Amino acid sequence: MKKSQNLKLGLFLFAGCLFLSATLFAETKTPADTAKPVHGEYIDWRLLAVSHREDKKTLRAILGNDTAIAAARKEQTKPWPDGSVLAKVVWKESTHPNWPQAIVPGEFASAEAMVKDGKKYANTGGWGFGHWEGGKLIMHEEAKAKECFACHMPMKDNDYVYTFNALK
Ligand code: HEC
Repeated sequence: MKKSQNLKLGLFLFAGCLFLSATLFAETKTPADTAKPVHGEYIDWRLLAVSHREDKKTLRAILGNDTAIAAARKEQTKPWPDGSVLAKVVWKESTHPNWPQAIVPGEFASAEAMVKDGKKYANTGGWGFGHWEGGKLIMHEEAKAKECFACHMPMKDNDYVYTFNALK
């Protein structure tokens, strides 16, 4: 190998190392970054109700998109209209540092979705079941949706929805 070729190879390897370390450092997240959840569009939706699950020690906010909230305001949710989306946002329960008597939301746990489309999701009561992952809504395949649906079955007379609108 000629000297100039060696130099070129050296530069090439050096650049490669720089690129690799930059990528590695970019991937390294501080604990604060990883603890901060990325929320989906439900962050701007309005509230239907809250719930507290004692066994799992979690707090939940049940929210609706504009279509769902409009139907809830008119009390026309049997059935919920197509286009309604319900979000159940779950946090682990925590206490407030300055007010220990209160249970407040702690670490974000999950955000689940029910999407109404009578035709598309006819096999699961007209509801698609999914969840938000990194801010994106991902719908479950039918087999998994059927597991969700099975547990929502007892609420058949309320269009398979557990939540009763608390703001009416
Ligand atoms: C073990 C029973 C059970 C299973 C399984 C279940 N749910 Fe639920 N779900 C509930 C109950 C009870 C509520 C009422 C709200 C609460 O207490 O958190 C609820 C509420 C919801 C809500 C808010 C609307 C409503 O019905 O009140 C969404 C959205 C939701 N579930 C999505 C899902 C998805 C998606 C799955 C499957 C991955 C699922 N659920 C599986 C019991 C269940």
